[in-house]
Amino acid sequence: MGMPEDAVDAINDVSGRHPGHRAAHAKGTLVSGSFTATPEGSRLTRAAHMRGEPVRATVRFSNGGGDPGRPDYAREGRGMAVKLYLPDGSRTDMVALSLPAFFVRTPEDFIEFTRLRKPDPETGKPDMQRMGPWLGDHPEAGPAIQASLAAEPPASYAQVAYNGIHAFRWTSADGEGRWVRFSWQPAAGEAALDGGQARELGADYLQTEIHERIGREPVAFRLVVRIAAEGDPLDDPTAIWPDDRETVEAGRLELTGQDSERERGGDILVFDPTRVTDGIELSEDPILNFRPRAYSVSIERRAGASDRP
Ligand code: HEM
Repeated sequence: MGMPEDAVDAINDVSGRHPGHRAAHAKGTLVSGSFTATPEGSRLTRAAHMRGEPVRATVRFSNGGGDPGRPDYAREGRGMAVKLYLPDGSRTDMVALSLPAFFVRTPEDFIEFTRLRKPDPETGKPDMQRMGPWLGDHPEAGPAIQASLAAEPPASYAQVAYNGIHAFRWTSADGEGRWVRFSWQPAAGEAALDGGQARELGADYLQTEIHERIGREPVAFRLVVRIAAEGDPLDDPTAIWPDDRETVEAGRLELTGQDSERERGGDILVFDPTRVTDGIELSEDPILNFRPRAYSVSIERRAGASDRP
């Protein structure tokens, strides 16, 4: 298996090393609110945050890249990381991307693909002579690459749909299990800008807009889960399940303010997609199971960074 250090080094080689920042999703902003499951969601899993009582949430919206100075109008995937505070004092995290699928199926492919993405110092672009053949051998990367190349900058972090991408097994109170994939659907609808419009709004427009919006009106997302049918791939984050699968509206996230508690005074905030709770289980997806190891490398590096306030 590829080593987590190699994965983070490869990301650093694309985006640069930025002490004190996340290796990926370096630029982002924190908000807070609460999540409430629907009765239909409660029927699918006995998980503590899915019982219908509101639970507190910390949410971090981000741009996918590892350079915290990259302008918000750049074309890239966006992230939404949700931490829910459970009644027993534990937490669960739900980490999602604006892409419909991931680029690769294995950590080794991630490392290889990321190394190939490194811009050539002369042209500022990836070396297509090497990337081309790799893409030919890896058609599964197509949907994620096409989506990220086509993605216009969003009008707002509140107007993006974010996908959990991996499959998780949800088990109900009476022990019935189903494989699901979740997404956060924006109540305000999806909206994008063309590059020129976004540029006029400035390099940090997404960071400021979300707070202004929350000050003005409620910002909400619907949690929608798609249920696997027999034979749908459970361990392949590049494979999109067909649109006609049953979906359930499982909950609603309402964002109401700034998060004033986390990432202050040296607090290290970590979102880990494998931090699940009873009633939700991980699939054997190699990418899902590799992520916490790679995140730990990034977390150790950013927590130990000498320029941290
Ligand atoms: C092998 C695959 C992947 C690698 C190596 C990787 C690497 C990383 C790293 C190093 C970080 C920074 C962690 C930190 O310092 O806290 C990060 C953050 C993040 N990743 Fe990934 N990632 C991978 C796959 C994914 C996938 C499949 C998703 C979505 C389903 C995703 C969504 C995110 C998000 C939203 C964040 C930001 C979390 C935050 O705001 O703290 N990543 N990733």
